[in-house]
Amino acid sequence: MIDLELTDKKHDEARQGEALVVDAPLVRNGRKLYIESYGCQMNFADSEIVASILLDQGFETTGDYKEADVVFINTCSIRENAEQRVRNRLSQFGAEKRKNPKLIVGVLGCMAERLKSKFLEEEKLVDVVVGPDAYRELPQLLNEVESGQKAINVLLSREETYADINPVRLNGNGITAFISIMRGCDNMCSFCVVPFTRGRERSRDPHSILAEAQDLFNKGYKEITLLGQNVDSYKWKGTDTQENNENLAIEVNFAQLLEKVALISPELRIRFSTSHPKDITDEVLYTIAKYDNICNYIHLPVQSGSTRVLELMNRTYTREWYINRVDAIKRIIPDCAISSDIIAGFCTETEEEHQETLSIMDYVGYDFAFTFSYSERPGTLAARKLEDDIPEEVKKRRLAEILAKQQETSLFRLQQFVGKTVRILVEGTSKKSDKDFCGRNDQNAMVVFPATEGVKAGQYVNVHIDRCTSATLLGTVVN
Ligand code: 5AD
Ligand code: SF4
Repeated sequence: MIDLELTDKKHDEARQGEALVVDAPLVRNGRKLYIESYGCQMNFADSEIVASILLDQGFETTGDYKEADVVFINTCSIRENAEQRVRNRLSQFGAEKRKNPKLIVGVLGCMAERLKSKFLEEEKLVDVVVGPDAYRELPQLLNEVESGQKAINVLLSREETYADINPVRLNGNGITAFISIMRGCDNMCSFCVVPFTRGRERSRDPHSILAEAQDLFNKGYKEITLLGQNVDSYKWKGTDTQENNENLAIEVNFAQLLEKVALISPELRIRFSTSHPKDITDEVLYTIAKYDNICNYIHLPVQSGSTRVLELMNRTYTREWYINRVDAIKRIIPDCAISSDIIAGFCTETEEEHQETLSIMDYVGYDFAFTFSYSERPGTLAARKLEDDIPEEVKKRRLAEILAKQQETSLFRLQQFVGKTVRILVEGTSKKSDKDFCGRNDQNAMVVFPATEGVKAGQYVNVHIDRCTSATLLGTVVN
């Protein structure tokens, strides 16, 4: 999963805790929903499902929680500081609730599942607690709250994929969108709470994924990102209706799904996240290489460069296996960008093992990396079986070394584009200045260039890269 919380700060930081809104269609009931989201892209995609369910009930969204009837906070549990942030935010909502006792405050997502009824008991201001598989129950749960009860549903499901819900796009730019293709995770990496908060892995019906992608394309969207905790283990079994109305049993894997989405139109760009080194197949790599509109960019978290640490992390691959997958990527898709997640200071990690992480970073030459220092999460395998024994200052120093190396490598990777012309999809005006436009190239590098007459969001344009920073390419539009 790409985690937006501590990461791609320059481009995505603003989304953490941002009010998520959409223009309301037709008939409204006068009630207003304020929703904000923390953590990974999957949580943002889930907030869109939640908003769709409440819009169906006649709600409209608002960007100001002070005028809301219902305030939802979609939470993340991945690291302790993510939870702390949410608690701080909840106390702000608490102050508002004291002024307006009718305000309903709800906690959604991973913290809801992890902390369950604790929220209702300890944080009296919370009225409703809903886990990631129970959003369909929201209207009913809100009714319960209105009749004076507290409401909770954190049951995890083996089937729920919200396949039939066509999500509204919150804070959308009308150009890029996410589509969830699966939910949950069965991998049980020893440091990770996700298998506990999001439950068992299940893949969504490919027909509904294709219908959603086609619908987005018809509405003018030009890029979709297929989301799953481990997209490479996407697997769906079912039936397909043939032209002669016969039902044919089919099985769809991730490579086949990618291909089907890519075939919607060459004008629709496809991205996906997250890939798992143990599962990514050559078939997926050949599919990426075959279609120009599948972006040459793979997020392939390594977590550690040491085979012993990887084993403790229960990642189920070795350093050599990971290197073999990277070699395959470089062979099959020579200009593919690769990014990673890296954890510094996992339980019992030695100085030599930390050096192995630095050396695998050198080997791969990541375009980008999301870097974290290990934080023990209650209930995980590591919390139960391993001692969190690396002193905080050692974790910090190792993380700083990883970060410094990554900054150097990111700059080096971006410098390779300087002097070249790249094709980008214009996403809109740049965050820093409305005199500049921004968009990403095939390899997911952010490109900023002066707004140019005749160029608008949603177009593909060629940009000559004049210079770069370690995070951004800067250039000018060429014909
Ligand atoms: N401590 C530090 N980093 C973690 N991640 C997940 N759990 C933890 C943890 N307990 C990181 C992993 C994962 C990314 C989304 O967050 O690198 O790939
Ligand atoms: Fe967590 Fe591992 Fe699953 Fe990723 S693959 S969500 S790190 S358990």
